Amino acid sequence: MTIFLFILAYVIGSIPTALIVGKVFFNIDIREHGSNNPGATNTLRVLGKKAAIIVLFVDVGKGALAASLPLLFHMEMNPLHLGLMAVIGHCFPVFAGFRGGKAIATTAGALLVANIGLFLITYITFILVILITKYVFFGSISVGIVLLLYSIMESGAENDILFIIFLLLLIFLHRTNIRHFINHQEPKINDKNLAND
Ligand code: G3P
Repeated sequence: MTIFLFILAYVIGSIPTALIVGKVFFNIDIREHGSNNPGATNTLRVLGKKAAIIVLFVDVGKGALAASLPLLFHMEMNPLHLGLMAVIGHCFPVFAGFRGGKAIATTAGALLVANIGLFLITYITFILVILITKYVFFGSISVGIVLLLYSIMESGAENDILFIIFLLLLIFLHRTNIRHFINHQEPKINDKNLAND
């Protein structure tokens, strides 16, 4: 049953929301436009606010649903672990050739259910970093840094390793953003002039 719930969480995370919204409502593959990222930020740039809100809502919901599985199935499992399994699905979706998003919205949903205090600390920081820097990817990477700092201060070594891996994953997923930033090509949040890969 434990393995079944992990697989289910991965499958839930694998639903490629931005790809579906792009194809169904706009007849485009979002991964061929803007930053090529099938996430809410790129949906906002390429397809506009309404589409971005739908993508954000569903992607957050995927993490929240996966983290709720122990409750729904009456199992004694860590909701955060299942939520993070959905994040893996979101980033490497089985339904979309393993080309997925960059983790942030689905992680928000997972934390919302697993630890609302940590969700608030992490995502208030996320918004503040974006407001200050105007770069979404800085906010995104700050999510991993805050989680790791929290883990070092508050919880055990098991979570430290988990959040070190999570931060490294975020840096890996944002490697193009980092390269673009170094080359002065990374768009700010309200900028539509993008450097495509
Ligand atoms: O959460 C995604 C964000 O950090 C970067 O998105 O589209 O600018 O690569 P994007």
